Amino acid sequence: MQTQTLKHTDEIQGYDGMSNRALKGFQTLIFKVSGITMSDAKKSLIAGRLTKRLRALNLNSYDEYLHYLTKGEGTHSGEVENFTNLLTTNETYFYREPQHFAFLKKEILYKHNSDQAIRIWSAASSSGEEAYTLAMVLAEEFGANANWMVMGTDISTSMIKAAQQAIYSEQRVRMVPDDIRYKYLLKGTGEYNGYVSVVPEIKKHVHFEHYNLVESTLKTELFDVIFCRNVLIYFNQQTKKKVMERLCRQLKQGSYLMTGHSESLHGMLPELKSVSPSVYLKANQTNGLIS
Ligand SMILES: C[S@@+](CC[C@H](N)C(=O)[O-])C[C@H]1O[C@@H](n2cnc3c(N)ncnc32)[C@H](O)[C@@H]1O
Repeated sequence: MQTQTLKHTDEIQGYDGMSNRALKGFQTLIFKVSGITMSDAKKSLIAGRLTKRLRALNLNSYDEYLHYLTKGEGTHSGEVENFTNLLTTNETYFYREPQHFAFLKKEILYKHNSDQAIRIWSAASSSGEEAYTLAMVLAEEFGANANWMVMGTDISTSMIKAAQQAIYSEQRVRMVPDDIRYKYLLKGTGEYNGYVSVVPEIKKHVHFEHYNLVESTLKTELFDVIFCRNVLIYFNQQTKKKVMERLCRQLKQGSYLMTGHSESLHGMLPELKSVSPSVYLKANQTNGLIS
């Protein structure tokens, strides 16, 4: 009896109704499509986030959903996109980790020749708050009609749609200084009471698109600054290094990369020199030494 139970451990449903086999299948799939590592401790979170798909598809168990995703109709119906959208964590807000915006202003924009275009990439932009914050900082420095642009990218297609809409709850804009808010955010009325929208003068400089940091084709253009914040924490060491190498190739020499404050790179890439907490400069390498 005991042996039989052990033999079938994979079939046993956890308290949240998900078998260990389904859990392993979801962990493998999310890693394969996004590089995100989700530990066993995330079981109930995974279960909670995927329940709505079971309901929508009229499926009775997570095993059925896994089958649908990996072997059934879901393989060609776009279900992997829904799955990915649900399992990414998209928490963000305007002016998050404000030291980076202060550094950008003082150490980068102030020294930049305003006759030259400047391109900034928000490389895991979620619903767009980081990209629009960058745009507001650029508009303050160079004016809304100058030659600058911000590209926001994310693996989540639902977040890209939200970013393009540019409508936010008051809670998401709580850190925006009053003068900036007054200039660049419009207060909603009627059904949009409690929401704000980004003004067109800012929106026109910001472009959003789907991009997978792990495997999308590298961009042909190079960037002056890349923000890649609060996404590396979801990757293992190997994936983190791969993503950093890919981003580094898209940075101009002498340009900067910002990571989240809890995402130190600890000498991961020799060409990225730490210049301030979670700020890295792409420096020239001469005979293995960084200049
Ligand atoms: C917590 S949000 C960070 C948002 C913003 N950068 C910030 O710091 O506030 C992490 C974002 O990374 C995105 N993400 C996760 N894996 C990704 C991948 N492989 N490629 C692109 N984006 C990814 C998620 O969809 C999510 O929107």
